[in-house]
Amino acid sequence: MTVAENAVGVADRVCAHPDWLFLWVAPDYLDAMPKTLEDIYAEKIAAGDLTRDPAQEAVLPILCDIRTWLEEAPKRGLRGLFAKGPPPPKGLYLWGGVGRGKSMLMDMFVEAVDAPKRRVHFHAFMQEIHAGMHEARKKGVDDALKPVAEAVAADIRLLAFDEMQITDITDAMIVGRLFQRLFEVGVLVVTTSNRPPDDLYKDGLNRALFVPFIELLKERMVIHHLAAEADYRQDKLAGSQTYFAPANAAARAAVQAIWEDLVTAPPEPLTLKVKGRDVVLPKFSNGVARVPFWDLCGKPLGPADYLAVAEAVRVLILEDVPNLSRSNYNEAKRFVILIDALYEAKVRLIVTAADIPERLYVEGEGTFEFERTASRLREMQSEDWGT
Ligand SMILES: Nc1ncnc2c1ncn2[C@@H]1O[C@H](COP(=O)(O)OP(=O)(O)O)[C@@H](O)[C@H]1O
Ligand SMILES: [Mg+2]
Repeated sequence: MTVAENAVGVADRVCAHPDWLFLWVAPDYLDAMPKTLEDIYAEKIAAGDLTRDPAQEAVLPILCDIRTWLEEAPKRGLRGLFAKGPPPPKGLYLWGGVGRGKSMLMDMFVEAVDAPKRRVHFHAFMQEIHAGMHEARKKGVDDALKPVAEAVAADIRLLAFDEMQITDITDAMIVGRLFQRLFEVGVLVVTTSNRPPDDLYKDGLNRALFVPFIELLKERMVIHHLAAEADYRQDKLAGSQTYFAPANAAARAAVQAIWEDLVTAPPEPLTLKVKGRDVVLPKFSNGVARVPFWDLCGKPLGPADYLAVAEAVRVLILEDVPNLSRSNYNEAKRFVILIDALYEAKVRLIVTAADIPERLYVEGEGTFEFERTASRLREMQSEDWGT
């Protein structure tokens, strides 16, 4: 078998095309072959980590085509000057309801792909772009976006975004050119989102200027709706305790186990820009944030900050809520606002606290208000909360 044939064999193998069986392959070579996404998915089912879901399986061939192209490209040189590589496939825009497995599928894919790649939360990525543009402007660059987009694309061929959403006009006004540039230099983009492209930046300011970006996405990416059978995140939490008091070692261990179960990628800080301020969630992964009470309610944050937090997370793990008293009026007030924001946004809340909700704040201004918070904390513990 020549090197070129070898490369072809691998390409067919990673996509599990039925005809790969007809290629002659030595058994030891077979062992060294990369696993197909179908293999990896099947292994996770066999191990009891995943429930088989045909809607998720339907995404695998799309990812597989992208993977083949990405992995084949560097080998193309081996086939000599006459071999012209296939044109790049479209990227993937995977959208659907929460907990359907979008991030799980994307992470599985990114991990498997053997090509220069980067996976990043969309929000964090956009902040990086704005920071880069700010630097470029300071240096007097006319078109600040250009060098930033080029730097992003310099070392990678695959860019995987988790949770694309556009709520901010400053993002809305640059994503079109940014993506155009990424596509031009041959970066393949895979992204997850809770909304179809047509609903991005819905009702946003100057939306007409944003529409070409939607058209660009539709042209360059396969738009796929992941209509999976269940909200698996909800299933994971269903029936499990979500409020732990007192916040002792057992409570901490239980919360640690929940955190490990929900987190799929290494946690990173998530910085939310609110009215020019930075609100930092120090540990964030796959929609789940874990934060001590004092970090969130012991700082001078207000309703806009808590709304931004509630919008950015699906699950909040809030640790070490203390017994609050008259002297903690500010903390108690912020806690009330935080719980209201999480409640309205239907965020899943996991709490370790010094005491049961009704005994967290019993003396001081606003104890009457706090009764509603306690009641909400109860309601948010119910099994069907957030569905
Ligand atoms: N088929 C499945 N069986 C069991 N658990 C799953 C399945 N698909 C996803 N999960 C788990 O459910 C949780 C939510 O999945 P995730 O990919 O984060 O959803 P989404 O990104 O669509 O909101 C994750 O912990 C994930 O590992
Ligand atoms: Mg997700």
